[in-house]
Amino acid sequence: MKLVILDSADSVGLWAAKYVKKRINDFQPGPNKYFVLGLPTGSTPLGMYKNLIKFHEEGKLSFEYVKTFNMDEYVGLPRSHPESYHYFMWHNFFKHINIKPDNVHILDGNAENLVEECNKFEDLIKEAGGVELFIGGIGPDGHIAFNEPGSSLVSRTRIKTLAQDTLEANARFFDNDISKVPTKALTVGVGTVMDAKEVMILITGTHKAFALYKAIEEGVNHMWTVSAFQQHPNTLMVCDEDATLELRVKTVKYFKGILGNLHNKLAEDEADD
Ligand code: GLP
Repeated sequence: MKLVILDSADSVGLWAAKYVKKRINDFQPGPNKYFVLGLPTGSTPLGMYKNLIKFHEEGKLSFEYVKTFNMDEYVGLPRSHPESYHYFMWHNFFKHINIKPDNVHILDGNAENLVEECNKFEDLIKEAGGVELFIGGIGPDGHIAFNEPGSSLVSRTRIKTLAQDTLEANARFFDNDISKVPTKALTVGVGTVMDAKEVMILITGTHKAFALYKAIEEGVNHMWTVSAFQQHPNTLMVCDEDATLELRVKTVKYFKGILGNLHNKLAEDEADD
């Protein structure tokens, strides 16, 4: 596992965007070779999306041959609702780049048959050749996508009932009124994300520090679903200083030492100035 520790949440957004740009450009996608990207919502990835849009506008990155799969969506929230993940993704990212709408995949939380919708999503990922890079955020309770504490670590895309912690954390998006937060969601499973060739997890803020500690310094634990990625052969965690507050000094020193020599080069390419 790699842990990249950066000064601030803004640096995390820029670093992650540079990394995605490099991965897509190095892959050299084309009509017969799409780059398949898994994407998260939430406040954490917003800086990354902003920078990706900038790279696109500067002509440094094209999404013409990119397919995307989003991690999750609320059940029963209309697509046009500003807090639906459809709205979030189109508003904050897709409408600003040259991705073809047919290449965007977001679970439909209003589908007539939700189980079928989840199974179809898994099939579409398979048909696309699997996810090259799955990007995720985490909740303060260490959940990835909506894989709440106690989720199976081999789970696939399915319906989940949201945990109280998640309802409380997300109430801020619904006028601070917990009764307005949908109680169910469709989400990719931990196993779905584990199948990706590479996983990049973005973690910022002191409120995520305990989850980062659980993810890195303790064992794999289904009560902290992000910890499953210790067993993925290619996991990259990108965090800010605030998120490291619960880590041991020696853990932070170890990863920062590597950063100086190696990790900070991961996102750089010749085109970067
Ligand atoms: C929700 C989403 C997760 C996301 C998390 C953190 O629970 N389902 O995918 O990672 O929120 O959001 P934020 O980045 O706003 O803290």
